[in-house]
Amino acid sequence: MQHNIILVGLMGAGKSTIGRQLARRLNLTFYDSDKVIEERTGVPIPTIFEVEGEAGFREREEQVIAELTAMQGILLATGGGSILRDSNRERIKASGCVIYLRASADHLFQRIKHDQGRPLMQTANPVQTLRDLLKAREPYYMEVADLIIPTGKQKVNVILREIHNKL
Ligand code: S3P
Repeated sequence: MQHNIILVGLMGAGKSTIGRQLARRLNLTFYDSDKVIEERTGVPIPTIFEVEGEAGFREREEQVIAELTAMQGILLATGGGSILRDSNRERIKASGCVIYLRASADHLFQRIKHDQGRPLMQTANPVQTLRDLLKAREPYYMEVADLIIPTGKQKVNVILREIHNKL
């Protein structure tokens, strides 16, 4: 088993913010699967959704998750929907310690409401969309998780300490 740490959870759960700081503390190399996709294509995620649809994005995401989970000594922040594919879940689980950053739809919305970079949030009622996504995806996050960490109201430092204590 590789000694990686993989963060899973919905948009706004804090995967990138917490991941970057946790990686520094644990001396792991930080990767964000969305950022890798953007670097490779040279365009932002919403453009990929516009041009290739969600299906095209998921293909790219699977390729990147396969490559990153095969590396060693990394901390990987995954896109919120990466756990939808069986193949991704298997690779994520086999790659190291999986941490599910868990928050309610209301808390998630507070964190992402000003951010235009998430195509799935361009709906008439984004909080309801988040509730629906949470309901559909929570079983998958739970399935892959070794650790479940609540990230609702807590400050980043408190969350980091909690993860550190439980690892
Ligand atoms: C998605 C989450 C996004 C990004 C894409 C799709 C999802 O990543 O991969 O917009 O399906 O939940 P974050 O979870 O980093 O926002």
